[in-house]
Amino acid sequence: MITIIGAGRVGSAAAFSILRYRIGDVVLIDIFENLAKGEALDMMQTAPAIEFDGKIKGTNDFGEMEGSDLVIVTAGEARKPGMTRIDLMNKNAKTVKSLVREVVRYAPECKLMIVTNPVDVMTYIAYKESGFERKRVFGMGNVLDTLRFRSYIALELNISREDVRALVIGEHGDSMVPLVEYAAVSGIPIISLLSKAQIDKIVDLTISSGVDVIRLKGSTTHAPAAVIAIMADAILRGRNRLMGVSTYLQGEYGFSDIAIGVPVVLGKNGVERILELKLMPETMKHFEKSVSTIKEAIKELQE
Ligand code: LAC
Repeated sequence: MITIIGAGRVGSAAAFSILRYRIGDVVLIDIFENLAKGEALDMMQTAPAIEFDGKIKGTNDFGEMEGSDLVIVTAGEARKPGMTRIDLMNKNAKTVKSLVREVVRYAPECKLMIVTNPVDVMTYIAYKESGFERKRVFGMGNVLDTLRFRSYIALELNISREDVRALVIGEHGDSMVPLVEYAAVSGIPIISLLSKAQIDKIVDLTISSGVDVIRLKGSTTHAPAAVIAIMADAILRGRNRLMGVSTYLQGEYGFSDIAIGVPVVLGKNGVERILELKLMPETMKHFEKSVSTIKEAIKELQE
């Protein structure tokens, strides 16, 4: 069973994606009980159209998350145009801390996925607050960045997105690190297919893509929801997928006491293992910038 805390746009769209791909039963929790109940009822009525026979329940009772394999925290303020993810930080830090205490109380064995932004700092807070082993606490960010990176590569080459494989690591934010050296189309490195100018344009588009959507429609919905379902699928079905996930480091890449996007194998236990890739010196410099951005933010966290 999967519990999603936060029945806002991302939480409810993620619930529907999870049902749509029959990944598991869903409990949708929100402090606004009618919102959670209404979203659940709406989805339940869609069930015959998506041939879904599982359960979806909306509630404001945290006790309903009991027995969840995976708890996904999407609750918190969404970023508004002109705001950075860090601006959101202290407001959302209080929310995440109190929600994690409920998770520890009612679903102490679950895997805990954080979506609330700034997701790397929120993942750090969730890890510290939960007392869980680190493999069970992780953040959704770089998989979303990777989808965007893949989309822009495919568009530039006018090639199916399906044949584009890539990875983004680092902060889920302006200092993210699209791994150009590892991006490929059917195994062919993109550096053999695109000029430096084209690659720079794609990297810039990837970094700004979240803000581009927020500027147009106020917040992102469909892409984060799809990614949450992809990660839930990797966990519930034990698929051991290699993806960029915000994880608490204990010396990997030379860094500790920070949550940041790194390549991990995501499976039934959560972060099964972290892969320490060989990064080009330029790429390592970008990653170090990302680390310092998040470390700076963590320092500004109000007690
Ligand atoms: C985005 C939000 C989920 O990048 O951070 O769309």
